[in-house]
Amino acid sequence: MPALDEKQVDWTALEEAAKQAMQRAYAPYSKFPVGAAALTEDGRIISGCNVENASYGLTLCAECALVGQLHMTGGGRLAAFYCVDGQGTILMPCGRCRQLLYEFRAPGMQLMTTQGIKTMDQVLPDAFGPENLEETRDQH
Ligand code: THU
Repeated sequence: MPALDEKQVDWTALEEAAKQAMQRAYAPYSKFPVGAAALTEDGRIISGCNVENASYGLTLCAECALVGQLHMTGGGRLAAFYCVDGQGTILMPCGRCRQLLYEFRAPGMQLMTTQGIKTMDQVLPDAFGPENLEETRDQH
């Protein structure tokens, strides 16, 4: 049962929030600014931008900042997600960030993708998640 119906999500507001976040990106190395925004189950819009550093490999993706903001603003779960590149074009979250989003997904979480709206389960099928740790714990 989805947390929110597709029609209940203001995708334009999420797109705008993602574009605004992208303006804050610190991406002097890749020159590839990214902005991400999400709607929480309780109706907040949170966002984040990528923050790079001289080590290159330790770059923080926009989604890292977003999940930080999720917690800093009261926690909860993600109902809908939108990510853009420097042109404001829809961007697919990288593999690591799909895992970050999966951790905090609301049931039926939706993502705007280059192929239209998809669910978290479509974007990260057969995922490893917190429930797997619970299963293991039960066996010991
Ligand atoms: N990037 C993100 O912020 N999120 C993604 O999901 C894809 C990649 C950033 C990391 C790096 O700063 C730049 O895009 C180029 O990889």
